[in-house]
Amino acid sequence: MTHSRAAVTAPEGNTTGTRRHPVLSTAVRRIAVPVQDAVDLVRRALSPDFCEGYWDGVWARRVREPGTGERQDMRDRCAWMTVTVWLLDAIVHNRPGTVRGSQQWWSGELGDPLVGYLTDSVCTSVDDTLGQVKDLQACSDLLPYVLESHGEGSRRSVMLRPETMHARLAKKHSGVFYTPEDVADHMVSRALDGIEDVTPITVLDPACGTGVFLRSALRCIQKKEGSRDPLGTVCSKLYGSDIDGLALDAAAAVLLLECMESVRARKILPLTAWHAIRLNLVQVDALRLTPSIEASETFDLARRERLALRASLKSGVLPSATNRVWETARIGFGELYPELHEGPRLIVGNPPYADIGKEGLLAHGLYFHTLRGAPRATSDIYPAFVEQMVRLAAPNAHGGALVLPLSIACNSGKQFRALRALIANEPGHWNFSFFDREPHALFGEDVKTRNSIVLWTRKANETAVSVQTGPLRKWRTTDRKRMLASIAYTPFTGDIITGIPKLANAVQTQGFARVCELSAVMGNPALSLRKSSLKRAMDSSDPAVYVGPTAYNFINVFVGSPKMGELDGLPLSENPLYAIPCADEEEAFELYAILASRLCFWLWHVQGDGFHVSKAFLDSLPLGMVRRKAEREILSSAGRLAWSVTRARPIVSCNKGRYSLAYSLSADIKDALDRVVLDALGLDDGLAAELASFDTAVSTASF
Ligand SMILES: C[S@@+](CC[C@H](N)C(=O)[O-])C[C@H]1O[C@@H](n2cnc3c(N)ncnc32)[C@H](O)[C@@H]1O
Repeated sequence: MTHSRAAVTAPEGNTTGTRRHPVLSTAVRRIAVPVQDAVDLVRRALSPDFCEGYWDGVWARRVREPGTGERQDMRDRCAWMTVTVWLLDAIVHNRPGTVRGSQQWWSGELGDPLVGYLTDSVCTSVDDTLGQVKDLQACSDLLPYVLESHGEGSRRSVMLRPETMHARLAKKHSGVFYTPEDVADHMVSRALDGIEDVTPITVLDPACGTGVFLRSALRCIQKKEGSRDPLGTVCSKLYGSDIDGLALDAAAAVLLLECMESVRARKILPLTAWHAIRLNLVQVDALRLTPSIEASETFDLARRERLALRASLKSGVLPSATNRVWETARIGFGELYPELHEGPRLIVGNPPYADIGKEGLLAHGLYFHTLRGAPRATSDIYPAFVEQMVRLAAPNAHGGALVLPLSIACNSGKQFRALRALIANEPGHWNFSFFDREPHALFGEDVKTRNSIVLWTRKANETAVSVQTGPLRKWRTTDRKRMLASIAYTPFTGDIITGIPKLANAVQTQGFARVCELSAVMGNPALSLRKSSLKRAMDSSDPAVYVGPTAYNFINVFVGSPKMGELDGLPLSENPLYAIPCADEEEAFELYAILASRLCFWLWHVQGDGFHVSKAFLDSLPLGMVRRKAEREILSSAGRLAWSVTRARPIVSCNKGRYSLAYSLSADIKDALDRVVLDALGLDDGLAAELASFDTAVSTASF
């Protein structure tokens, strides 16, 4: 595997204290370009034969790991470590160094064969290239992103620099989106707070990448415990795995940088301290891990051997690497981490968001509920990581924190229903927060995804399941810090298998429960939806209501044949709309009143994916209740009035030369419609006020 010569884009969360995200991205790019150039220089100077022996002697984890089945290119890994050592040396000594000097600092009297292998001219070129990294403090803060080896590749980078497409595809394929530091900090500290009385605390990130979560966990634990020995904390409390060995080498370096105080106090070489940390990071497909059932003499022996190995590394001795053969498809957790055979107390991370693939399905399909529910190569891999969180955590008190796509809350596919069923039956406190992608996104402007953060904590012997939820949050760049700090939860006791509703407070929860009750009692007559183009909608004279298939700050609804003069003769958008044919005009206005109300928009937010207006959503509206005779006339006249005002203010937009229309209601019209609709449903006034503030919060993106 070779890596493209491209800059890495950091996620745009907080890192250096510089919270202006575009600046941050530029800061990473400024460091990552010379770093990757230097890696290329070293890589080209190394021969595969030299690297095999060099790797085994110097860099290989001291106990061989299961790996991924295919051997990664050792030239890449040696080159990355050479550059990483250069950067660490420069950061620690706060000055640009040299390849030879940094190797001397790193390996000391143990020596490093690379020093004699690289020519003076290669070393000088590498020093000159890395000398372009001027801001060493930024380099230190951004290290997990700088050492991300795929290189820059995001939706935005491809628009700006098409040559980054290759890296983007590789990242997408393997589901690699590195987590912003502020998100990792938020998740780790909330999760640790949730199991405060558990000791000793141990943390695993099963897909740890370059160690963003483990670094957050280290800082948080150090602070809580007031410890002065970060190396001790890392070695005894922090564990990781990843299928990418390069990422693990980098994660060990990221953690080591936090431990320099311990390295100095112990008077040991950075190389052996790095190995002590790397021992806790294992290259393995985390889905192969199974809980280790019981302690045995074998475990005890392995545990003692491992503790002895760790102790010698921490005292500055570098034993040779021990070979181990990993033959079985499933690997007991205790085999990889013998001293932790019961499992970690806390499992955190950002698992890959990608398809499981044919091979993954063959390897894991039978083993995970969520894959058994939907045994397809295109099934998502991340639900299996949620299962692993639940399955691998130590018995009794434990917890987890995962950042996931929004689909965990709203995808109606079998895999996701199976996942939610699993959660609904798993004791503990499940807290969900949800994040929209506009105006700002949790992973920053380059990655633009909608996300959920799942926090799970269970105290010893708790057997009840409690679920708390939150709204689909929207915020602006400048509010990011406040938004994360203000995250709170609302208890929800209803069914979560069909979806986890996104509710902001008790009023919303009660309102939603009432709507569900009404639907259950009255039934929801399925709407006879069909697809229609805008042109057909405008030409038709049959009574009908049209609904846009996607939405953002409002749902686009209009009553049939608007005949807008402005669009006459213009090429119209061919994006299909939903057409809901009605028996007569009265029925069309009645339906319009409901679909254009804030209640409908809010329900869409609560249940939907923040973008699509699905047929299932439209069918779930409590129309059975409101469409009783007595209410129909009132609704119909309210709808007629609302439409007569609204149709005069179309929003005309043009995309790639094709025009479309949308209609958004003014606040007073929405107030009037809400009153009528809520009244028809027998929902109280408190909800009307709540819907008005919800609507304002959405349109002003105030979380
Ligand atoms: C979304 S990235 C997250 C990395 C890091 N935890 C972070 O948040 O910045 C996902 C990581 O999962 C790793 N990965 C993918 N499939 C895996 C598997 N089956 N087992 C372990 N790690 C895996 C990738 O190599 C990548 O580093």
